[in-house]
Amino acid sequence: MIFQDRVTIVTGASQGIGETIARTFAREGAAIALLDVQRDKLEAVSASIAAEGGRAMVLTADVTKSDQTAAAVAAVLKEFGRVDHLVNNAGIARDGLFLRMKEEDWDAVLAVNLKGAFNMTKAVARPMVQAHYGRIVSLSSIAGMMGNAGQANYAASKAGLVGFSKSLARELASRNVTVNCVAPGFIATAMTAALPENVQNSFLDVIPMGRFGQPEDVAQAVRFLCSEDAAYITGQVININGGMYM
Ligand SMILES: NC(=O)c1ccc[n+]([C@@H]2O[C@H](COP(=O)([O-])OP(=O)(O)OC[C@H]3O[C@@H](n4cnc5c(N)ncnc54)[C@H](O)[C@@H]3O)[C@@H](O)[C@H]2O)c1
Repeated sequence: MIFQDRVTIVTGASQGIGETIARTFAREGAAIALLDVQRDKLEAVSASIAAEGGRAMVLTADVTKSDQTAAAVAAVLKEFGRVDHLVNNAGIARDGLFLRMKEEDWDAVLAVNLKGAFNMTKAVARPMVQAHYGRIVSLSSIAGMMGNAGQANYAASKAGLVGFSKSLARELASRNVTVNCVAPGFIATAMTAALPENVQNSFLDVIPMGRFGQPEDVAQAVRFLCSEDAAYITGQVININGGMYM
């Protein structure tokens, strides 16, 4: 178990990719702080991690609210005494062509996907610097790498995470805190199940591997970036997309 005695915070951990990352890290021995706005689902994930012999705590918080993220990280430090990994996974999409995109859809997506990562990272950065150890991984997206019609807000937020992470990587490298992104392509979760079937099928045509990714495909890359094997990797983006974008 590679994360024995480590403490991991995963945002958006109540379902999909975040839930899978949390379960993967718990199996590797990490104590997991599960953060999300969906309390009931969090409780269920926490209970099933505990049933498998893992350690988990539930943090019901909205990443867009800095008072809530600060309180959540303080609760983790109180409960587990440290924080080693932050996975900025909480995200939303409010898709629409730009000419019809409403200002509130722009603001909502930027608030969760980009400001949310800022709030969480702000809360963990000082304890990580003091500990001379930390791993921060944010969920960017293929949309942030190559753009996507109908996702100007989402793509901007996901590209923003790359610039944010590279800047922070430069600031925190000397303190042994690495900051990286993963950029998934089309992963089979509730977020992508919401797309019309013809849109889903059109994606399949442009994925060289001929299949959608699974949450496990993303979780394994995040696991690697948080492991000792990735100690010299910072400011990078790992694309996980079956070859859809190279
Ligand atoms: N599914 C994909 O194909 C795909 C591709 C690229 C990137 N991503 C990114 O991966 C991440 C996870 O995606 P997913 O497919 O599992 O999505 P999902 O919608 O299944 O899960 C997102 C989670 O974030 C939580 N969340 C939303 N707003 C929040 C807030 N304000 N505070 C706290 N939690 C909040 C939701 O409750 C949910 O549990 C997202 O950042 C997404 O943008 C997904």
